[in-house]
Amino acid sequence: MRVALSIPALVLGAGLALAHSGASGVVKERMDAMKAMGDSLKAVKAMVDGAAAYDAAKVAATAKAIAAEAVAMPDHFPHGTDHAPSEALPAVWTEHEAFRSAAGDLGAAAEILLAASDDPSAARDALGDVARACKACHDDFRQDK
Ligand code: HEC
Repeated sequence: MRVALSIPALVLGAGLALAHSGASGVVKERMDAMKAMGDSLKAVKAMVDGAAAYDAAKVAATAKAIAAEAVAMPDHFPHGTDHAPSEALPAVWTEHEAFRSAAGDLGAAAEILLAASDDPSAARDALGDVARACKACHDDFRQDK
């Protein structure tokens, strides 16, 4: 029997459809990068749920892209970019070490997904951890919707 994979609704939910008009520069870039991660996670979720054919190469590519984005993420949040339409909380800057560490947790989870990409069942578990790493950071560093 398959156990339903729970991906936090905050990460993959309808909020994704709400694009932010008016964002520009690095704020728009990081929003776009976040959205791209959300879209690729959805594609992998469809595969591990059996709704789409499992493509190990695609899962590996997604995991690599997310790991790379996790490394780059702190640079996408320069000082002075906490104004609307950004939804970043001031804690991104006041608790910068914790923010970096949350990005590091995502990177670590993405590496585990990469290592598991040949095994759909292991990838399924790893994907859940990736999504939890997204949500953990959003809980602390992103405004509630
Ligand atoms: C280290 C912290 C952190 C991690 C990890 C993280 N995010 Fe984010 N995310 C943020 C912050 C902060 C914002 C708000 C950015 C802004 O509005 O300036 C955000 C915004 C978003 C948005 C909204 C983008 C928009 O258009 O407003 C989406 C979607 C998103 N993240 C998806 C993800 C996904 C999927 C993952 C995991 C693969 C992830 N995030 C991992 C911190 C993080």
